[in-house]
Amino acid sequence: MQKRKIGPSTMLFPMPSVLVGAKTSGRANFMTVAWCGIASHQPPAICVAVRKKRFTLDGIESNAKFSVNIPGADLMKKVDFCGIYSGRDKDKSGLFTVFIGDLEDVPLIEECPVNLECVLKHQLDLGSHWLVIGEIVQTHISEDCYTEDKADPLKINPLIYSPSSQNYHRLGEIVGKAFYDGRDFE
Ligand SMILES: Cc1cc2nc3c(=O)[nH]c(=O)nc-3n(C[C@H](O)[C@H](O)[C@H](O)COP(=O)(O)O)c2cc1C
Repeated sequence: MQKRKIGPSTMLFPMPSVLVGAKTSGRANFMTVAWCGIASHQPPAICVAVRKKRFTLDGIESNAKFSVNIPGADLMKKVDFCGIYSGRDKDKSGLFTVFIGDLEDVPLIEECPVNLECVLKHQLDLGSHWLVIGEIVQTHISEDCYTEDKADPLKINPLIYSPSSQNYHRLGEIVGKAFYDGRDFE
């Protein structure tokens, strides 16, 4: 198959779209982040790539704590808002119902079906962005997003971001069983 080279890029498909929260300048602030991923199992860790001038970064650094909130697709417009406007210019604290979990001063979003409470462990200077690595110390999942005691991705209905088209998507249909269907090639 013929491929088209486009040079160095950040074309990873798909990307999540999460809301990273921190108490910044005395109030809850949330920014949209697509560059986010799990970094370790034990201890559980997550990384987010945050451009150096972000207002949320001030709060992450000053508290050494932050949250990662996974919005459902129904929150698309508010997620986009948090990705367009900086807390430096607009107070974003009233957009959501904020609650506090185990960590003091870490704002969590009630409307998001999954909330991760994180303690800042490492920061790696990669150029335009800091890679911010947090240990996940608590996880909250909405009661109505379980099926038979397991968190159900279809009920969480996460918002997915596509970097080239800049469109938001929903999760698609199930195409197979992980750690199982690959055995066909044994
Ligand atoms: C879909 C989407 C994804 C984004 N992903 C990131 C990201 O991964 N890292 C980042 O630094 N900014 C990202 N942004 C931009 C920030 O969310 C945006 O600059 C925001 O206004 C920063 O808010 P703050 O200054 O209040 O922290 C994204 C924006 C959108 C709309």
